[in-house]
Amino acid sequence: MQQTATVRAGGIGMGVRDEKLVPYASQRVAYWYFVVALALFVLQIVVGLWLAISYAFTIPQSIVDVLPFGMTRAMHTNLLVLWLLLGFMGGTYYLVPEEAEREIYSVPIAYIQLVAFVAIGVAALIGFGFGYTQGRPLLEIPTPLDFLVVAGALLFLFNVGMTVLKGKKTAILGMLLGGLVFLALLYIFGMPFYRNLTIDWFYWWWVVHLWVEGAWELVTAAILAFVLIKVTGVNRKVVEKYLYIETALFLFTGLAGTGHHYYWIGAPRTWLYVGGIFSAMEVLPIVAMVIDTFRTQREKGVVIKDKVVWTFALGTAIGHLVGAGIWGFAHTLPQVNYYTHGSQVTASHGHLAFFGAYALLNFTMFWYALPRLRGVVKFKSSTAILGFWVMSLAVLGLGVAMGVAGVLQTYIERIMGQGFMTAQAQMQFWFKVVLFFGVFILLGVLISFWHLMTARQAAEDAAETP
Ligand code: HEM
Ligand code: HEM
Ligand SMILES: [Fe+2]
Repeated sequence: MQQTATVRAGGIGMGVRDEKLVPYASQRVAYWYFVVALALFVLQIVVGLWLAISYAFTIPQSIVDVLPFGMTRAMHTNLLVLWLLLGFMGGTYYLVPEEAEREIYSVPIAYIQLVAFVAIGVAALIGFGFGYTQGRPLLEIPTPLDFLVVAGALLFLFNVGMTVLKGKKTAILGMLLGGLVFLALLYIFGMPFYRNLTIDWFYWWWVVHLWVEGAWELVTAAILAFVLIKVTGVNRKVVEKYLYIETALFLFTGLAGTGHHYYWIGAPRTWLYVGGIFSAMEVLPIVAMVIDTFRTQREKGVVIKDKVVWTFALGTAIGHLVGAGIWGFAHTLPQVNYYTHGSQVTASHGHLAFFGAYALLNFTMFWYALPRLRGVVKFKSSTAILGFWVMSLAVLGLGVAMGVAGVLQTYIERIMGQGFMTAQAQMQFWFKVVLFFGVFILLGVLISFWHLMTARQAAEDAAETP
């Protein structure tokens, strides 16, 4: 990494484009996707702190009336989905030109689409404030906004599709495009409201489960493969071969694994077996991914060129294993899920999995792309690594505290058969612990955001390889 850095020309935080760092001018659209995504992540966490306060203390009714739990919870989870998707889109716009070896088909479309998604997000948040919601968790936004989401997604797919069609085709691009099309198609199944609630939940999971355990895994595989090739210089053929195997396994286990959500919704009994067996096997591709990432490092002659990006990439693999693999497996068999279903055990897994797999994946891309977009080649890596550890350990702490609250809840309500409030009273202490770790999550994210935007080119002799 001995390229010379370009002079940073004031403006909006981006330096003059260094063609060695950012080979295609249109890659720069990713910058605003990343900045908006990071800002929304901060907002999501601030709202999360309010949720923890609502559990940890008894709040006066007058305040609850203004900031009810249901409304703020919808804001917290919808912000999560929005920033992760914006991050994926920015990542896609950054990666596609380098892979396809051509500029993005239309830069204006890319910006229009960003503005559209932000506008939809703002409208949705304001709407929640006025009780304008569908009420189905994670898919709360009202139907008219759903149609706008579809329009935005079509613009995005058209733009990326045309770029790939006109450019060089690689396995990474195929995987990425496949994942994105799958992701968009699934969203449509969650749009109608089915009068029969069993049917409604059946399709609700097509979005929620098949996104995080299907379509998003394909996007992850593609982005991680791109970054691994860049920072380790390992042969593309080697990375691609494992990409195919892991993806096939992800799809095979993840599709039928949807059954782990059909145990208690009134679906046929067969799902107890299908869901239990296939979702337990979902751990295999995750373990394969971790082994594969470490194996990449041990390839002959590999020199890690970017310590920060590598730390985040390894963090993604391990976070995936802990949050999705281990925490998911812990409650996926019907014999366990019968007790833990819908408790804080679920919320614990939700946090560890979303953060470990998808928040860290986005940060891996942010740390690869943003310094380059800002014209920075070498910077002191210690603050970035500090940000990684503060965020990750704090999320682990929060997840464990929620997990303890969940086990207490399960035991008191479902084994001892005591009332809801009896359990809540015992859980309050653990939500104070959740709040404690929540403050550190906010701190870790602020450190990372600030450093991503301001890291300066280090003097040649003082520079550590980032
Ligand atoms: C990165 C991938 C994953 C993410 C982001 C994720 C996230 C989530 C979230 C947010 C929920 C709560 C949904 C709700 O009820 O509102 C959930 C539920 C669940 N997840 Fe995952 N998950 C992932 C992978 C897995 C895997 C691999 C397994 C199994 C090995 C698993 C097992 C479960 C089970 C059994 C439930 C239902 C819990 C209940 O009955 O309340 N998850 N997941
Ligand atoms: C200050 C940090 C945070 C706090 C205090 C916090 C707190 C909470 C609380 C109390 C809930 C409601 C659980 C329930 O319905 O009983 C929730 C839901 C959720 N949060 Fe957070 N959160 C934080 C950060 C995050 C982060 C970093 C992520 C992911 C990257 C995340 C993802 C989620 C998800 C997926 C749900 C829905 C879980 C489910 O359906 O079971 N949160 N959060
Ligand atoms: Fe699932």
